[in-house]
Amino acid sequence: MLHTVLERLKLKGKSLLPIVQGGMGVGVSAHRLAGTVASFDAMGTISSVDLRRHHPDLMVETGRSRDRALIDKTNLVALDREVKAAKDMAKGKGLIAVNVMRAVSEYASYVRQSCESGADAVVVGAGLPLDLPELTADFPKVAIIPILSDVRGISLVLKKWMRKNRLPDAIVIENPKYAAGHLGAPTADAVDNPNFAFSNVLEGARQLFKDLGLEKESIPLITAGGIHSHEQVKQLLGMGASAVQLGSPFAVTEEGDAHPNFKKVLVEAKPEDIVTFMSVAGLPARAVRTPWLEAYLEKEEKLQRAAKQRPCTVGFDCLVSCGLRDGIAKHGQFCIDTRLAFALAGDIKRGLFFRGSEKLPFGNAIRPVRELIEYMLTGIRPVLAAVASPTVRSQHDLVPA
Ligand SMILES: Cc1cc2nc3c(=O)[nH]c(=O)nc-3n(C[C@H](O)[C@H](O)[C@H](O)COP(=O)(O)O)c2cc1C
Ligand code: SF4
Repeated sequence: MLHTVLERLKLKGKSLLPIVQGGMGVGVSAHRLAGTVASFDAMGTISSVDLRRHHPDLMVETGRSRDRALIDKTNLVALDREVKAAKDMAKGKGLIAVNVMRAVSEYASYVRQSCESGADAVVVGAGLPLDLPELTADFPKVAIIPILSDVRGISLVLKKWMRKNRLPDAIVIENPKYAAGHLGAPTADAVDNPNFAFSNVLEGARQLFKDLGLEKESIPLITAGGIHSHEQVKQLLGMGASAVQLGSPFAVTEEGDAHPNFKKVLVEAKPEDIVTFMSVAGLPARAVRTPWLEAYLEKEEKLQRAAKQRPCTVGFDCLVSCGLRDGIAKHGQFCIDTRLAFALAGDIKRGLFFRGSEKLPFGNAIRPVRELIEYMLTGIRPVLAAVASPTVRSQHDLVPA
C-alpha cells in the first residue's frame, strides 16, 4: 500500500490517493492499467471506446464486419468484461472509473453499461455531458465527473445539472495547451488561450461555486495536462486542486495496456515531434508526428478541399459527427478508429499515437505504475531514472501556466 502526507482525494465517500489515471482510448487504458492503479488506492480509468480490440474472440466475430449493431453489441460485452476484470484486480481498493467520450455515437449505452457492470464512476469528456444525470439516475452510487477546460464550460454544466438536482462528484480540469488526445479548445490555435491556465480555472471555479451557493459542497477539482513531477503535484494541490490526472505518463508504464511499440513511440518523441492538428471529431488533438501523421498532414488541405459525404469507411459509425464520413471540410479527413487501433497494436508506420506536449516523469524509461505513483506523491525517483538528473530542475518542473 502506498501512503502520502498529501491530502487525499475525497470522492463519493472514498478516500483516495490524489493521483488519477486518465482514460485513454483506443484500448490504451483497459483493465490492466486501471485495475493496477486502483489496487494502489488511486483512481484508475478504463476508456470505453472500441474495447473489443482487446478480446480475440470478439475480433473473430467483428474484425471484418460492417454490421454496426453487431460491433456495438460486442463492444458492450468487452466493456463489461474489462470493468469486471479491473474491479477484480483492485480487490475493493481505490476506484474504477470508465471514460466515455460525449462525441461517440454509443455514448449513452457505454454510460449505461459502465454503471450496470459495476464501475464506481463515469467520466465524460469530448463534449458537454448535459444529460449525464438522467443517464445515471438509476445508479446513484456511481460518481459522475465531467471533463472541462474553462470556467464557461464548468458554469454551463453546473447550471444545467443543478436544475436536475444533481452536482458533479468531481470535475476534471484539462488544459488543452499540454494534454494528449482530443483537446477542449475550439481550434488548434486556441489551445494557448490563458482562460485555460490552471490558476485561472481553479480561481474562477471557486468564485463560481460561491456565486452559485455551492461552496459547502466541496466539489473536488482534478487538474490534468502536462503534469510530470512531484513539484507540480504539490503546487497544484497548494493552488486548490484536490488531485492531479495524468495520461501520457501512465500510458507508458509497464502495465499500460497498449503494445510495447506504442510506449516506445511515446517515450522517444522529442518536443518537436509532438503536433496539434484537427481531428475528425471536430476537436483539436495532440499526437506524435509518426510516418502516417506526417504524410496525412502534408495532404490535409487537399483532402479537406475534396471533403464530401460518404459512408463510414468501416461501417462502425463510431462518431456522432465525423469529418470524413460527413464531409466536413474544416475537420480531419481520416478514420480515427482505424488509426488508433493500429497504434494500440504497435503499428508504428500506420498508427496515430496520442501524447501530451510535456516531458515524461522518467524520460524514456518504461517503469511500473507503482513507481510512477510513488514519485508523484513523494518526489522519490526509481533508481534507473535517478541517473537522469534527479536534482536538476528545468523550467518544465514548474506548474504549466
Ligand atoms: C494515448 C492517449 C489516449 C487518450 N484518450 C482519451 C480518451 O479516450 N478520452 C479522454 O477523455 N481523454 C483521453 N486522453 C487524455 C487523458 O485522459 C489525460 O487527461 C491527458 O492525457 C492528460 O495530459 P497528459 O497526457 O499530459 O498527462 C488520452 C491521452 C492519451 C495519452
Ligand atoms: S469513418 Fe468516421 S465514423 Fe466511421 S469509424 Fe472511422 S472515424 Fe468512426
